[in-house]
Amino acid sequence: MLDLEGRLSLMEEIKAECLKCKRCPLSQLRTQVVFGEGKVNTELMFVGEAPGAEEDVQGKPFVGKAGQLLTKILQSVGISRDEVYITNVVKCRPPNNRNPTPEEVSMCWPFLEAQIAVIRPKIIVTLGSVSTQAILKLKDPITSVRGKWFEWIGGIRVFPMFHPSFLLRNLSREKGSPRWLTWEDIKEVKRAWQELRR
Ligand code: URA
Repeated sequence: MLDLEGRLSLMEEIKAECLKCKRCPLSQLRTQVVFGEGKVNTELMFVGEAPGAEEDVQGKPFVGKAGQLLTKILQSVGISRDEVYITNVVKCRPPNNRNPTPEEVSMCWPFLEAQIAVIRPKIIVTLGSVSTQAILKLKDPITSVRGKWFEWIGGIRVFPMFHPSFLLRNLSREKGSPRWLTWEDIKEVKRAWQELRR
């Protein structure tokens, strides 16, 4: 098993490989690869869909409007971004913020798989249907799987949540609304994470 230094250096190697990637046409359109960031020895990982315009410019995941909302959601239960790891299924921005294609997802998959292998998280929170369907290999809509626990390879538990950009389009906080459900979901993530650390 790798110590922290070993994990950091392996993650740097994977990142270097990813930054050079030209496997799919998205590489021709990117300003920067958005590899992911955070703690490499964390139990808790968040996986989104693909970088948007702001992420493409800054080279960091979830730094645009949806990202700022994600940061707030995490902060609302006392989770700081630097104690978890945040990345996306696809590391380069799809044009006009369209969903990544299944081919793009599968070409980028080895990078996410390698990141997961280095981090060995106990919990992966998938944000939105693209990452949920890519990781869990299912076709169910996010509305029917969010807020449920799934057992994944290596004893990792996967917990789907709504994507924050969906919440930017759904402002209601009424009981049962996507924002209300997300509040329930993030509290569940925090509870499960705390239980692991006890
Ligand atoms: N949406 C995502 O899925 N990922 C990001 O990094 C930003 C927006």
